Amino acid sequence: MNPVDASRLTVEVCLTRAGRLETMADDVRRGLTAPQKSLPCKYFYDAYGSRLFERITEIPEYYQTRTELATLQSIADPFVDDGRFTELVELGSGSATKTRTLLDAMERRGCLTSYIPVDVSEAMLRESAAALLDRYRNVTVHGVVGDFQQHLGSVPRPTGPRLVIFLGSTIGNLQSDERRHFLAEARELLDADDRFLIGVDLVKDVGMLEAAYNDSAGITAEFNRNILRVVNRELGATFVPEAYRHSAYYNEADRRIEMHLVPEDVQRVYVRDLQLTIDVSPRETIWTEISCKFTWDSVVAMLDEAGMTLTQWHTDPRGLFGLALAARHG
Ligand code: SAH
Ligand code: TRP
Repeated sequence: MNPVDASRLTVEVCLTRAGRLETMADDVRRGLTAPQKSLPCKYFYDAYGSRLFERITEIPEYYQTRTELATLQSIADPFVDDGRFTELVELGSGSATKTRTLLDAMERRGCLTSYIPVDVSEAMLRESAAALLDRYRNVTVHGVVGDFQQHLGSVPRPTGPRLVIFLGSTIGNLQSDERRHFLAEARELLDADDRFLIGVDLVKDVGMLEAAYNDSAGITAEFNRNILRVVNRELGATFVPEAYRHSAYYNEADRRIEMHLVPEDVQRVYVRDLQLTIDVSPRETIWTEISCKFTWDSVVAMLDEAGMTLTQWHTDPRGLFGLALAARHG
């Protein structure tokens, strides 16, 4: 087999280490000094966190990944035929495992020219780019290491019809104001014939939802605690991650899973690079994640508000997970 041709790979790094640390310092200070302490979920994904997330996608209770994959497999060919897309842009690409279903279909149709992954995790992006260059021998990969809430302007100009994808219900991890801002920016990536494919986890039985975020092997708990390890390492904080309990429950009124870290005991934490001391106690939690659940109606309303129209809607036979295809309003 030929070695991977390096000229087919470009990686643009929008997040320098210094810039990333500065943003993290601001975010962590704001989060830990608010009445309800919180930490932004993008900090879960260091190299270890990205690996843990990959394990989450394989746990029996986490139905989302395999359900979304099965639906993608059943729609990929007609879908790609319809759009004649030459480019695939993926936001929050991670390991890009499910993405292969679409790339395979585009390649079968002979139209695939480039793949443009965007992710905060440089290690994961480089690893998945290498694997895809090896698998698709006529494709260029232009990776963007950046925050999809800040750096969509660095996605290269289109060279042909393109499909932008945002899988895994990552959209559900954004707060409503963040989501509005994100969708407005994502819309700017689309020309009239381009399409935006979003994976959304759907409202369902509470037991099934809560089990997906409280797996019996404790991998989600380990993933949740990893955010404290990231803050310890990057900002010199003294959290004892093992002293926090993982808590994830469904908030029915707001239709979302909320994930927290609950200190087992009173603890004083010093964050060296912020010169900040905080006290944590079992009576208050650190809020680390939301995972909003959707319905067809809520997806249509969300897209409409962002200046987009739903053009296709696919789910699995049990209606667990949705894939929404959207276009910008004419
Ligand atoms: N798309 C994959 C991975 C989902 S996990 C799947 O469906 O399985 C979320 C991914 O988004 C991770 O790879 C994480 O590193 C990335 N991510 C999270 N917040 C981000 C942000 N603000 N900007 C860019 N990437 C982000
Ligand atoms: N987008 C995924 C979801 O909301 C992210 C996720 C899955 C996640 N499991 C998690 C985030 C556990 C934090 C902790 O389902």
